[in-house]
Amino acid sequence: MTEQFSQKIFPTTQLEDADGDGHNPTLNPTMGEIIGKRFSRRGFLQGSLAVSAIAATVCPAALLSAPNAARAAGGSAFSFAEVEAGVDANHHVAEGYDADVLLRWGDALFSDSPAFDPTKQTAAAQERQFGYNNDYVGFIPLEGSSEHGLLVVNHEYTNPHLMFPGLVKIVDGKVEQGPLSKEQVDVEMAAHGGTIVEIRKVDGKWQVVPDGKLNRRVTASTEMQLTGPVAGHDRVKTNGDASGKKVFGTLNNCAGGVTPWGTYIMAEENFHGYFSGELPAGHAEAGNYERYGVPEGGYEWANFYDRFDLAKEPNEPNRFGWIVEVDVMDPTSVPKKRTALGRTKHEGAESIVAANGKVVFYLGDDERFDYVYKFVTDGSYNPDDRAANMDLLDAGMLYVAKFDEDGTMAWLPVVHGEGPLTAENGFASQADVLIETRRAGDLLGATKMDRPEDVQPNGVNGKVYVMLTNNTKRKADQVDAANPRAENAFGHIIEIEEDGGDFTAISGKWEVLLKCGDPSVADVGATFSTETTKNGWFGMPDNCAVDAAGRLWVSTDGNNNKATGRTDGLWAVDTEGDARATSKLFFRVPVGAEMCGPLFTPDDETAFVAVQHPGDGGEDWDGHGRPSYYEDLSTRWPDFKDDMPVRPAVVAITKVGGGKIAV
Ligand code: FEO
Ligand code: CA
Ligand code: CA
Repeated sequence: MTEQFSQKIFPTTQLEDADGDGHNPTLNPTMGEIIGKRFSRRGFLQGSLAVSAIAATVCPAALLSAPNAARAAGGSAFSFAEVEAGVDANHHVAEGYDADVLLRWGDALFSDSPAFDPTKQTAAAQERQFGYNNDYVGFIPLEGSSEHGLLVVNHEYTNPHLMFPGLVKIVDGKVEQGPLSKEQVDVEMAAHGGTIVEIRKVDGKWQVVPDGKLNRRVTASTEMQLTGPVAGHDRVKTNGDASGKKVFGTLNNCAGGVTPWGTYIMAEENFHGYFSGELPAGHAEAGNYERYGVPEGGYEWANFYDRFDLAKEPNEPNRFGWIVEVDVMDPTSVPKKRTALGRTKHEGAESIVAANGKVVFYLGDDERFDYVYKFVTDGSYNPDDRAANMDLLDAGMLYVAKFDEDGTMAWLPVVHGEGPLTAENGFASQADVLIETRRAGDLLGATKMDRPEDVQPNGVNGKVYVMLTNNTKRKADQVDAANPRAENAFGHIIEIEEDGGDFTAISGKWEVLLKCGDPSVADVGATFSTETTKNGWFGMPDNCAVDAAGRLWVSTDGNNNKATGRTDGLWAVDTEGDARATSKLFFRVPVGAEMCGPLFTPDDETAFVAVQHPGDGGEDWDGHGRPSYYEDLSTRWPDFKDDMPVRPAVVAITKVGGGKIAV
């Protein structure tokens, strides 16, 4: 979800601090005044080379030798002609590639799905159609194929000003968004959640298999089960659910994952925005909710559903903020909220099988000054017995990351009874620790990060990549080695190397792979390699993928403005050898959109990307120059028809004539 919402213009749904205004009140020690201490000499030189304003500070010999050295070592691991950065109404992909729209908001998933009619939207229709604002994209091969499988896609949130005709009015020259009807709220709820849909490649082009037996929509109303240590706890019981185990719906599913045993993980991120009303005076959850920013009141659902009203259902927010697991092989299965993985504003949950067979999930809590986590299952993955793995996520150890100044790190156990996580501090059990995961991290002294987004293990080189999207609220006296820039507008990427190459290790090393932003502006302090062109740099890393060759691809959220001169997109980022920290633009989105996904099929011949909230904004683009809403859109991507609104969509990128991407 982008941070650049038009909150001032569309106040009813746009979350003021979507993706993180910062709700961490604690003062874990920052390390202070050590910017640059962990810059490698080489990193400093390369970063400086692109900065003509300070080139005089760089040794002339280095100016000559660094690019040559990169070429001598083979340069970039990616072979494609870079796209030119810019802003316009359409998407663009590198020459020699096709970028085909596969699934748009409203597209049919079943043989009985109504045709998409934006002027006659109903919840019943939306429940049979592809949802809104596609974010995470996963691919679960069927029979081991890279050309036939299940596409699983999260639908993170809704943009009513782009979705519904007649909702926005110009009053006294100002744009105002009217209240939503119950039917529109129901459409919103049906447009959330996720899609599971069978797809197949036919003659080199991906197609949806209509009415595939496993096709399914998960929504904000689907029955789910709370499992693990929090299931049945008093703090998750409500008037509607005395068991404390039965929850309806999943909210704000941002990134996610596919487990080694082929289930679909949906991470609940900014759940706070769906709740309104006030807790009863003196309610015990007040401190808990403050730490999570509940309520934000961005959505109008509480007008029609009591469970989103804190005055009526004060425990309901404790039933959100979890990692949800869906068994995609049974379309009637009840999705499970796996509480052992903690309750945060989860960006995603990418996993890897460690050498000892345990499965390790990496988790970012996307808010300013919040933490990076990992979860290690107690049990081991059994590749020969899918059923034996189905409850692995109910038992394991949750850790929170502490990044130290010297480039080492520790994974601190988030376990009741250890250290400060005791009854004295208000934790009577592990259930309390998990419901208030953030406060547990505060007390443990975890490192406050610049909005942790995707955290991706790389099974080829053994490293782990942490996307840190930005944090403009970090002050100069709050910088530390792992968050080295004050007012960090462009974010950075950290590379972790677990001790002994063991993903279950409780300690490791880390370094900053890349500080993002325009390297031609000295004050930004970006550290892209000198091979990186004016098209190749980016800011706001958000989602990422590692392809089968072990190469890193980064997608971004928030580059859409005049200052950057570029939309969001998908960038190929070298991590190895002399080309390390070289970035190239492979695909870019239409105006107003954020780039989500990305995901490579196991054969590396397809990259799926999700174009989220296209057309959301246009004031900053000369081609529109004013607010964008249903009747006056900055783009009508991807249909470009006057009677069709802009539609978030998943795009399949393939090489013309076939073959592996960027090889
Ligand atoms: Fe939904 Fe952290 O982006
Ligand atoms: Ca984001
Ligand atoms: Ca994201």
